[in-house]
Amino acid sequence: MSTAISPTAYNYKVVRQFAIMTVVWGILGMGLGVFIASQLVWPELNFGLPWTSFGRLRPLHTNLVIFAFGGCALFATSYYVVQRTCQTRLISDSLAAFTFWGWQAVIVGAIITLPLGYTTTKEYAELEWPLAILLAIVWVTYGLVFFGTITKRKTKHIYVGNWFYGAFIVVTAMLHIVNHASLPVSFFKSYSAYAGATDAMIQWWYGHNAVGFFLTTGFLGMMYYFVPKQAERPIYSYRLSIVHFWALITLYIWAGPHHLHYTALPDWAQSLGMAMSIILLAPSWGGMINGMMTLSGAWHKLRTDPILRFLVVSLAFYGMSTFEGPMMAIKTVNSLSHYTDWTIGHVHAGALGWVAMISIGAIYHMIPKLFGRAQMHSVGLINAHFWLATIGTVLYIASMWVNGITQGLMWRAINDDGTLTYSFVEALQASHPGYIVRALGGAFFASGMFLMAYNVWRTVRASNPAEAEAAATIAVVGAH
Ligand code: HEM
Ligand code: HEM
Repeated sequence: MSTAISPTAYNYKVVRQFAIMTVVWGILGMGLGVFIASQLVWPELNFGLPWTSFGRLRPLHTNLVIFAFGGCALFATSYYVVQRTCQTRLISDSLAAFTFWGWQAVIVGAIITLPLGYTTTKEYAELEWPLAILLAIVWVTYGLVFFGTITKRKTKHIYVGNWFYGAFIVVTAMLHIVNHASLPVSFFKSYSAYAGATDAMIQWWYGHNAVGFFLTTGFLGMMYYFVPKQAERPIYSYRLSIVHFWALITLYIWAGPHHLHYTALPDWAQSLGMAMSIILLAPSWGGMINGMMTLSGAWHKLRTDPILRFLVVSLAFYGMSTFEGPMMAIKTVNSLSHYTDWTIGHVHAGALGWVAMISIGAIYHMIPKLFGRAQMHSVGLINAHFWLATIGTVLYIASMWVNGITQGLMWRAINDDGTLTYSFVEALQASHPGYIVRALGGAFFASGMFLMAYNVWRTVRASNPAEAEAAATIAVVGAH
């Protein structure tokens, strides 16, 4: 770490804006998650209206939690980390401001168009072409700001966290642009440039790598900065972090076909996807262990520091979901798990346990620093939030495991004469208790977000703008 001195201050304004919006979109996206989870318990909540139906609100939930909540957390932390580790201000304030307002515009566009039923029908890529183009422009600008800042760094070395953020930015641009290639036929409707099995393969090349690069690689960038910072320990092994980076990005890109087992996709491609997914366990766990071992000699801090708890438990869920994923990619296992709630449980082990928990930890770490305070308004509330989030995640995942395996076994059970033992409705009835527990778990998780909002609001309200600006300037001096 260098000790270069620079008279300039960091651009914390854009970091503050994205950090606050992370909390706002977190509440909205997760609140909507609880609502659609409740619709699966009480179908009357569809209200018989098209725009409040499960089918339209589900993609709004995924867009809000992934792109609005997760996206804002990634923007906020990457802008914070790249400035501090490069000891320089963002290359352009106006381009950074454009990424903030452009990104919020895309989200508002999603909130309007998805309930109205405008959709490409491709999962996680539902936004119709005008919004998809806006998203691409914002993303390319993001790349310019991020890499531009790296080029004017004061440090010799590019910190490993920035490698992860950089790969996430480049690959997300590539995935989005290729998967969205389409022919518009009206302002709100376009048709994919691909057809048949090719369309499916491109879509799941996109879909899996959205998980791999948006929901994993970017958050690993976060992990490599905030875990050592909060634990006040250097990374366990810097060498391992480099091996981790190259192994992860080399392997992830091949694993997409595991979403298309037993489909019209050529068999060799399915097997390739399966093999690559199993190998992916190694770098995933390498990264998880690197993060965990960073706490060597600092484990006692977990007793008093709930922010560190968020970060460490997120790594535990990351380890769990990246063990479960490769298992589910094995064709015989997938024949049981596919189409069932097991997949939904796996998704949320990663989404709640890993993505949301690490983001929450990182935001709690940053907020006092961004607003010139020594610490968050209430450490007790962070602790309460931690328990609500952890219990909520466990209730969610456990209920979906039970449901998933029950559904898989009931669907495949056959009588001696070859007829099905259970009707679909019987499997649905058996799933009902699990749906209640999932909605409850979700409500736990979402209520934690309200505690966070209150805590953030009190911290921001007590902020001293002069101190905050001074912190941004002084922080340039000395170790990052
Ligand atoms: C309070 C928290 C949450 C609740 C209650 C919740 C609930 C739900 C529900 C009910 C579904 C539909 C499941 C189905 O179709 O059977 C769903 C889907 C999904 N959610 Fe959440 N969710 C929450 C948080 C999150 C977060 C934070 C993320 C991501 C960061 C996320 C990502 C997803 C994804 C990717 C899907 C689609 C899964 C698939 O198609 O396999 N969720 N969620
Ligand atoms: C080594 C790591 C991982 C592997 C090999 C893996 C593998 C898989 C497999 C086999 C499926 C089921 C596909 C199906 O039957 O349709 C799946 C679904 C999914 N996984 Fe993972 N997973 C991994 C890690 C993660 C993580 C960390 C997250 C979240 C942060 C995640 C998010 C998802 C999502 C959102 C889906 C549902 C996609 C959909 O059908 O809409 N995965 N994964």
